[in-house]
Amino acid sequence: MGTRTVNLTVNGQAVTREVEPRLLLVHFIREDLSLTGTHIGCDTTSCGACTIIMDGKAVKSCTIFAVQAEGRSIETIEDVAKDGLHPLQEGFWEKHGLQCGFCTPGMIMCSKAFLQENDQPTEAEIRWAISGNLCRCTGYVKIVEAIQYAAEKMHEKANQPTQVQEQEVVA
Ligand code: FES
Ligand code: FES
Repeated sequence: MGTRTVNLTVNGQAVTREVEPRLLLVHFIREDLSLTGTHIGCDTTSCGACTIIMDGKAVKSCTIFAVQAEGRSIETIEDVAKDGLHPLQEGFWEKHGLQCGFCTPGMIMCSKAFLQENDQPTEAEIRWAISGNLCRCTGYVKIVEAIQYAAEKMHEKANQPTQVQEQEVVA
């Protein structure tokens, strides 16, 4: 089978590779790029362990071919802590949102895309947002608490007055 060139941005870095057209994006991420934090739980679009963010949206990377990521920007779990622990990572730590951890990268990427759109979600909205991600260990309660923790932190941070606003209040 012939190969095709794919150009994309991965965690802020431009990447160009020759790939077989049938190569799934999840295998490209794990095997060609050695970013093994993105997991494979089923390969059939069921479990969400392979969730990444592509152009701001959570996607299951086993549902698309690597060549379909041409020109796209993707983010994987490896990039989430680039500026220190993300509030979601803190939340999973503080609220004990993981046991074996197999589902956790997918849960975090799915929740990250969701909280970028809605940082004041209800519990029902959180449960809906992660409904495509399966966890065989936790029973989900602690995962939901972890996401609530992160939402509160992110909302607080987004609404902190800037230095200029603080100076205006003082003046
Ligand atoms: Fe992609 Fe399960 S590995 S949904
Ligand atoms: Fe084990 Fe979710 S913590 S599958």
